[in-house]
Order: sequence, then C-alpha cells, then structure tokens
Amino acid sequence: MAETRTHKITLIPGDGIGPEVTQAVLRILEATGVKFEWERFSAGAEAFEIFGEYIPTQLYDSIERNKVALKGPVTTPIGGGFKSINVTLRKKFELFANFRPIKNLPGLATHWPGLDLIIVRENTEGEYVGLEHEVVPGVVEAIKVITEKGSTRIAKFAFEYARKHGRKKIHSIHKANIMKLSDGLFLRCARKVAEGFPDVVYGEHIIDNTCMQLVMNPWQYDTLLLENLYGDIVSDLCAGLVGGLGLVPGANLGLECAIFEAVHGSAPDIAGKDIANPTALLQSAVLMLRHLDEAAAADRVHKALETVYAERKTLTRDVGGTAGTTQFADAVLAAMG
Ligand code: NAI
Repeated sequence: MAETRTHKITLIPGDGIGPEVTQAVLRILEATGVKFEWERFSAGAEAFEIFGEYIPTQLYDSIERNKVALKGPVTTPIGGGFKSINVTLRKKFELFANFRPIKNLPGLATHWPGLDLIIVRENTEGEYVGLEHEVVPGVVEAIKVITEKGSTRIAKFAFEYARKHGRKKIHSIHKANIMKLSDGLFLRCARKVAEGFPDVVYGEHIIDNTCMQLVMNPWQYDTLLLENLYGDIVSDLCAGLVGGLGLVPGANLGLECAIFEAVHGSAPDIAGKDIANPTALLQSAVLMLRHLDEAAAADRVHKALETVYAERKTLTRDVGGTAGTTQFADAVLAAMG
C-alpha cells in the first residue's frame, strides 16, 4: 500500500467570519482522511496585538517552508491604517496569478444557469502597488504600475491553463482607450502571447462594456484576463452571477508557493453569528487538494457539496436557506458518508 503523505500547511483563519468558515472547512478536510499538519497563525490587527507585527516573521517562514497556505479573510482598514495583509503576502511570495473559477452549484436558481467562467487576475501590479502620495494638500497622486514582465507572465498563465484544460476563448479586459500606455502595454503583451496559442480564440473588451455584457450575456465569455484592480471588481460581479460571495473560491499562485482563499472579505456585518456560508473557503480548499495531488479527496468533498446544494435542505441564508455555518458543515460531512 502506498504510504500516506502528511501535508504541512500554513493556516491563517483570519478575522471576522474567517475563524467560523475555517473551522467548518477544517472539519470537512479532516474527514477526507488526507493527513494534514496545520501551522496556524493570526495576521492583521489580531497579530499586531500579540506579536507587534501585522504579519509575524514566523508566518512568512512557515509559508516559505510549506509552500502552501489556506487563508481566511483578513480585515483591511479603510482610508488609512496598515497595508492589506493579502496584498502584502501576494507580493512577498510573488503569487502573480489570482485564479477564480465561477460556476453554478446545483439547486441554486440564478438568472444565468450553466455558467463556467475563469477569472485570471494579475495579482502583484496595477494600482495595488500602493504608491500614493499627497502632491500638495487637496491633490493626491496614485501610481498604476504595469510591466512587460508582469503582463506577459499572467497572459502566459492564462493561455497555458486554457490549453491544458481545453478552454476555448480568452478575453483581455482593459481600459486602453483611456489608460493608453499602461493598459496598452498589458494588451500588447497578451496579444504577443496569444500568437503562440492559435488553438485558443483571443478577444478584447473594454472593462465598462464587459460589466454590461456580463449581466446581459455572461455565457459569451470563457476566460477573462485582467489586470489587478479590474480583476478584483469583476470577480465580485461574477460571484453575484452564480449566487454571491459566499460561494466563489480563489487561489493565489506563484512559481513556488500558493495561498488558497475565498474571494470574499471578512464580512463584519455577519461575523460571530454562525451564519456565514463556508462554501467559498471549502471550494478554495478543494482547489488546494487538487494542487496537493489529492484528487480523490477533492472530488469527494466537491461531490458532497453538490449533493447538499442539490437537496436544498441545509443551505445558509445568503443562498436562501436557514442553516447556520456549523449545520451546513454537518450536512456536507453527512453527504461524504
Ligand atoms: P465582504 O466580502 O466581506 O462582504 C460583502 C458582502 O458579502 C457582505 O454583505 C457579507 O455579509 C457578504 N458575504 C461575504 N462573504 C460571505 C459568506 N461567506 N457568507 C455569507 N455572506 C457573505 O466585503 P466588504 O464588506 O467590502 O469587506 C470587509 C473587509 O474584508 C474589508 O476590511 C476588506 O478589506 C476585507 N477583504 C478581505 C479580503 C481577503 O482577506 N481576501 C478580500 C476582500 C475584502
């Protein structure tokens, strides 16, 4: 019999609804029989209180060692305060590709059944470089950085993924009519990469039109390739198409490390009430299982999740049910048999 591997994973439960959805997901992961050793860390405001650092050095070391992390959301102060933990980790580990599959779950009626979209978001550049300064009182400058290297590697990621997984079409989403140099460079790089992939149809749409197209006829798209900020915004829009932020998973991928986290944030409006939907983090964990070559466990969890949705008996409030986070996790566990 093959020896069972133990996966050492860095775990950041986060804050807000983070600890609740993480707890639910951990129970389900433990039930797969896959062996995990979790290295658990706090980050953000909570970490600062304990360690005097928003991201403890031990957390960096742990990701460096383990190469894989599962992360809950972390609150970022608005209009001041410390820098986003997510953005900092993505930059530190060069997690340049943010991969977000958008798919309907069975039993959830939406206006757009049968959607199967992939969002590929550049994760390290654009407005997210955080270069802002006050020129004179009342005038602030923010810098958007787009590089040939960054744009080419994210385009390559999208095309290679498309080829490997039989996806047919990639659209670059841009605003190069206004951001002529920066988005212009992003497009030029994507076009150049596209030349090497004649088997994948390449198209371009302006971001504002894309938003309208997505709510009128999202089926026309297959894979969307976007710079950082557009990718962030369009991800939430697309989450809305399939039932909301409680559902959509994500992976931050680099050449060496990967951090798996949901698209949603810390949802302070519902935190601490055991009502958050853990599906998005669970689906992120399914992506993690595939990354770890634990395909059988990934399939088992995903099938159980689909069963719970198809039965419609134990759904959380955000998708029209009355179940709590724990109850939902119990139902998935029961469906796993
Ligand atoms: P949010 O994604 O936390 O919440 C938006 C809406 O979706 C809220 O009404 C919330 O209740 C609902 N929602 C989100 N996740 C849900 C779930 N699992 N189940 C049920 N309903 C859910 O966005 P918001 O409120 O704009 O941001 C809150 C905080 O989260 C901010 O500090 C933001 O910076 C941070 N954030 C962190 C992220 C991360 O750690 N990856 C990503 C996005 C935001």
